[in-house]
Amino acid sequence: MLSIISTATVLLLGLTQVQEALAFIECSVLNYGAVADNKTDLGPALTRAWEECVIPQVTTTVATDVLLYVPAGDYLLASTVTFDHAANWNLHIAGDIFLPFNPSLTGTMLTFENCENILLNGPGAIYGNGYRYRPGGDLSLYPSRPRLIRFQNCNNCEITAVTLYDAPMFHVTVIGNNNEAHDMSIIASHIGETDGFDMSGNNNYVHDVTVENGDECVTVKTPTNGFVAERITCRYTAGCNIGSFGSGTAGVDVQNVYYSDVTISNSDAGVMIKSYPNCAGTVKNITYTGFTLSAAAYPIYISAFWEGGTTDTGTLEVSNVLFENFQGTGTPTRPAVLLDCNKATPCKDISFSDISLSNTKANSFTNACGSGLSDLSGC
Ligand SMILES: *[C@@H]1O[C@H](CO)[C@@H](O)[C@H](O)[C@H]1NC(C)=O
Ligand SMILES: *[C@@H]1O[C@H](CO)[C@@H](O)[C@H](O)[C@H]1NC(C)=O
Repeated sequence: MLSIISTATVLLLGLTQVQEALAFIECSVLNYGAVADNKTDLGPALTRAWEECVIPQVTTTVATDVLLYVPAGDYLLASTVTFDHAANWNLHIAGDIFLPFNPSLTGTMLTFENCENILLNGPGAIYGNGYRYRPGGDLSLYPSRPRLIRFQNCNNCEITAVTLYDAPMFHVTVIGNNNEAHDMSIIASHIGETDGFDMSGNNNYVHDVTVENGDECVTVKTPTNGFVAERITCRYTAGCNIGSFGSGTAGVDVQNVYYSDVTISNSDAGVMIKSYPNCAGTVKNITYTGFTLSAAAYPIYISAFWEGGTTDTGTLEVSNVLFENFQGTGTPTRPAVLLDCNKATPCKDISFSDISLSNTKANSFTNACGSGLSDLSGC
């Protein structure tokens, strides 16, 4: 079953009258088994509507021509859904989707895999009920609790206007090229393993988003070549970071990253590049500009010893990083700028301009060279 909605718009251009017809196909989950009763599992209905209605009717590369539609109402998403080889359609969530508490629920609730030109939009919301999976803040009780949304090997996709609340684990992971997330909020408990946006691939773009959680705000993972984040607000997060790269990660490759116009408050960090002393690879040409911080521990921190490891033989090259126009406050027990790099491979060409951070300890530099701060030696 499907419904076709047409609207005709009439444009008057001088004396010329142009008629333009817009049509899109709407595949409502209500026609494929969903019930907006907050009890019936939405998962199978999403899959059926996609297979039986969306796939057969995608004929153009305009994503908004075919909608997998979740109308207004309350739905329970009790099982994971994977859209593999999805292309050229729009998951349009107008309703509110709730996750149950189910200790055996694991994986990722909504996965797009090998996908191309998918629009995921609101105005609806997904409520993860994450607090139930970590009662009293205990992250160890249900270590395989589910993540929320993942775009894996996906290009030219867009996520917008949907609000995500309190996922049991990470909220949005994007792996692929030319993807965009914008004009949306993620709001979770102030606790670890609640990452907002974890991005990797080439030329991804995140802008005009707000993240409140207790972990990564908008963060770059390897490999990345070309990433822009603009107009980002982070509350109670762990900051806008690069990494972390796990112990022994070889072949780290992150370059051409640009963050601008970021507001960070009550945070574990402002910006960090975090790795282990045995990582290998390259992080280069990184710009962080226009940061307003309040009560951010570690406002600017490059750490080759994130979460331990002391064997100082790493070959991760961190170079050509610019921190520009940082204003606001840190915390009295941590340095405003802390560079703690490998002896074997010092951080190079780390530059600072217009850094004005108060309520912090003195800066500290180990195995790093650059310009723009007194006591930082030139390269
Ligand atoms: C829907 O169910 C979930 C859990 O099963 C619950 O947390 C949520 O409050 C319910 N939503 C509404 C609107 O009743
Ligand atoms: C550095 O990255 C910026 C994007 O932030 C890009 O415009 C510029 O071309 C890069 N520079 C080099 C030398 O690759």
